[in-house]
Amino acid sequence: MGQRRQLSLALLFLLVLSAAARDYYDILQISRHADAAAIKRAYRKLALKYHPDKVQGSEDEKQAAAKTFAEIGHAYEVLTDEKKRRIYDQYGEDGLKQFGGGGDAHQPDDLFSHIFGQFGFGRGQPEEPQTPKGDTVVIELEVELEDLYKGKRVTLVRDKGIIQPAAGTRKCNCQNRMTTRQIGPGMYQQFATQVCEDCPNVKIVREKEEIEVHIEPGMASYHEINFFEQGEPIVDGEPGDLVIRLIPRPHPTFERRQSGLLTNVTITLLEALTGFERELEHLDGHKVQIGSSAITRPGQVRWFKGEGMPIHDAVDRGDLWVTYQVVFPQTLSQKQQEQVKSVLQEAAWHDEL
Ligand SMILES: *[C@@H]1O[C@H](CO)[C@@H](O)[C@H](O)[C@H]1NC(C)=O
Repeated sequence: MGQRRQLSLALLFLLVLSAAARDYYDILQISRHADAAAIKRAYRKLALKYHPDKVQGSEDEKQAAAKTFAEIGHAYEVLTDEKKRRIYDQYGEDGLKQFGGGGDAHQPDDLFSHIFGQFGFGRGQPEEPQTPKGDTVVIELEVELEDLYKGKRVTLVRDKGIIQPAAGTRKCNCQNRMTTRQIGPGMYQQFATQVCEDCPNVKIVREKEEIEVHIEPGMASYHEINFFEQGEPIVDGEPGDLVIRLIPRPHPTFERRQSGLLTNVTITLLEALTGFERELEHLDGHKVQIGSSAITRPGQVRWFKGEGMPIHDAVDRGDLWVTYQVVFPQTLSQKQQEQVKSVLQEAAWHDEL
């Protein structure tokens, strides 16, 4: 018993650790090569979404948002500081702590007003003008239930549009100007002309690019992992986003229902009546004791607390429900029938019979 408790404590500790060590790039939904401007835009987008003044909902939801807000503030702070970013890339969060750069971040609220102050966010002033944004690219990634249980890193190669300089010039920064022209005595016509500048020409070329997708334990079926500005580029605008949608493959033994897992186990009538020992191999290979010393009825369901799916971004786990199917003997000889009869006649039956 004591050992089991220690084990579950260790497990808890591990889970807390891995929850704490969420990757800064993942938090900001950017690639590892994102430049300062992209980091800033990603931060801006997320901070607007999770700012405590903006989030509506229950206390729990507000608290979760406040935590996320602090995380994105911290990730932003590290990744926009060249020295800290280098240390983080090489040694991770522990490295930052050792080099004394990880700990005392600004309050995210300071950061927020520092970045948003000039735009007057939240003070009733208009937001910045919209820049055009490229298309969002959605990639469907088939995943095994094991991957959603344990987590996994997957490297995908994809075809990505990249803007490159090209020969010649192109019209850009075009604006409509109203011009007035005299078309007769006392008659004027107003019309719009487009006035453009000449910019260096660009072309969009396709290139292969590797992206690393972090499937985190407990991510939901059809969960979308967002990669900020990794979608299609657009000339004179910001690139669209890339979305990786996780499509679950059916599993031969387990069925997922949110954080719960269901499975069927077949036992014999003998086992059903006299008890049995059985191990169920779980998605990560660990064994769950699903035996019983009592009678198991066909279709009976047993509940195994905490043996379900991990819950994404939390320490808790869902539960497992095992449904027992019972197989009967093909035939019984006359003698066996007599024996069974004599045994079962003396058994205690339920009242409903
Ligand atoms: C368990 O068996 C039932 C009935 O045969 C079936 O509908 C269900 O899909 C099975 N569940 C799993 C997880 O295999």
